[in-house]
Amino acid sequence: MATIRLGRDHRPIETPAEMASFLEGEGLVYRNWDVSKLREGLRNNYALTEAEKTEILAAFMEEIDALKAEGGYVAADVVVLFEKTPDLETLLGKFSREHHHSENEVRFVVDGHGIFTIRGRTGRYIELAVGPGDLITVPAGIRHWFNLAGDRRIKCIRLFQDPSGWAAIYEEPPAHDPPVRP
Ligand code: LAC
Ligand code: NI
Repeated sequence: MATIRLGRDHRPIETPAEMASFLEGEGLVYRNWDVSKLREGLRNNYALTEAEKTEILAAFMEEIDALKAEGGYVAADVVVLFEKTPDLETLLGKFSREHHHSENEVRFVVDGHGIFTIRGRTGRYIELAVGPGDLITVPAGIRHWFNLAGDRRIKCIRLFQDPSGWAAIYEEPPAHDPPVRP
């Protein structure tokens, strides 16, 4: 279950339904998928082979297909960040600078933890600490950044609307051209 922090205040949110309704008010979508159906060898293993990544995607095929139909996503992959990830620091450098995308960012946490800081619809920054089972959609145009948490590892399924893959826009959109809302 994700936890939320607004400025200095920790706001306790206990259930996926509560989290979804709080984040909806900020223009974000939260869901919780059941990770317990993954076999152990896929859960506590970060050095995944391509076949194991495919197996993770296959385990959530129904959920992914439903989301694809709903949100126009055309591609899905598994991303792993841990101490042996090639160019980990470079990747984290890209993720941890404030940015937005021209497509929705969808991340489903299979294992490990991370912290998204997101400028919500109300204009305030929300710190969302995610863990296994948490799925977050950050709509196109919403400014955000990402860091690893204390365990320094995370394994996520990503969905893309743009088949050309991940691209970030670091420059703030001009004031007369506000972020695109869904
Ligand atoms: C990304 C996240 C981590 O763009 O913001 O992949
Ligand atoms: Ni992003």
